[in-house]
Amino acid sequence: MAQAERYAFVVENFDHHSSMNWRYQFFYYLDTKEIEMYDIKNKRTFLKRCPYDSIERDMLYIGAKIVVYSRQLTIVDFADTFTRNRLQKKTERTCAMIKPDAFLNAGKIVNAIVRSNLRINQLRMCKLTQQEAAQFYAVHSERPFYPKLVDFMSSGPILAIEIVGEDAIAKWRSLLGPTNSETARAERPDSIRAKFGTDNTMNAAHGSDSDETATTELDFFFGSGRVGQCANLSDCTLCIIKPSALVAGYQGLAIDQILQNFNVTAMELFRLDRANAGEFFEVYKGVVPEYNSMVDELISGDFIAIEISESGGNPVSALREFCGPADPEIARVLRPKSLRAQFGVNKVQNAIHCTDLPEDGELESNYFFNILIS
Ligand code: CMP
Repeated sequence: MAQAERYAFVVENFDHHSSMNWRYQFFYYLDTKEIEMYDIKNKRTFLKRCPYDSIERDMLYIGAKIVVYSRQLTIVDFADTFTRNRLQKKTERTCAMIKPDAFLNAGKIVNAIVRSNLRINQLRMCKLTQQEAAQFYAVHSERPFYPKLVDFMSSGPILAIEIVGEDAIAKWRSLLGPTNSETARAERPDSIRAKFGTDNTMNAAHGSDSDETATTELDFFFGSGRVGQCANLSDCTLCIIKPSALVAGYQGLAIDQILQNFNVTAMELFRLDRANAGEFFEVYKGVVPEYNSMVDELISGDFIAIEISESGGNPVSALREFCGPADPEIARVLRPKSLRAQFGVNKVQNAIHCTDLPEDGELESNYFFNILIS
């Protein structure tokens, strides 16, 4: 009988009790959607081969987080040549950056990425200093346009994105169109630079030109340096676009509506394990019957946290209004244009979390944009 095809990865799990990273081999049987795990350190089977329907093959790539029986595992490497050969090209990475002139259109651009079957693996809003912008574009330091480029890139917020997918570098550059926005409008009117760019320097977005550049640029934004920190952490509220809304592909549409209506001061893609998700939702424990399901939903995949600021106003209640009633069924009747009415499924998979109490806005923003990231 032919042997079942399986992917093999090295995965890590951070154990809060021992404060250690445990490494396992993780096997995924393609035909039967079964999984199996092997404890590398102790050289023994950790999880016997068993069906696990909630994991799909396209969830498996380097850097992905998957949840297996409440443990959050990070895929850190391929564990055999078969898997590497099959998946390496499919999981090419590139660094996309939405520039200050197109920042308000970032939701539309994120939507274009999602619709092109490319995966967003990391995402961070930044506000670069002149020095940081100069460093990012150092290869152009001898070019006449360099000072203007540095000024422009440090003039407003940007959104850095790690895109993963087959031929991600070429696909993203094709979506961008020609470097000069004017040329793009003449030659590729549907491209991102044609639609959202201004001129030759202010051209809406950037894409890496090779594997090597992608690695350097991704490290610039997503390495430990955390360039361009921009969260306010005061006079603010927190919005989370939940994992099920990301799986359904609504993130770009939701970000667009938020950017058109609020002053967004931080945005980042996160993944949480059960301990952190439980801690974040602690105030609902024993109060809301759905507490455990809310935690399950939050750890089920990537989500996007957004800080919204408004000095002198009441950002918490403004955002709550915009999100609509917590139950999307009710929202669809009472507030059909609200975010939850448009993108929610049920009370737990209700697309958006927003801070409930005015005094919690700063606490919730601090949890993500201060405590977790440090
Ligand atoms: P990007 O794809 O980010 O890579 C380098 C950037 O330099 C480019 O987009 C433009 O913003 C800018 N740039 C490239 N060529 C020119 C040019 N001839 N004149 C002005 N700006 C340019």
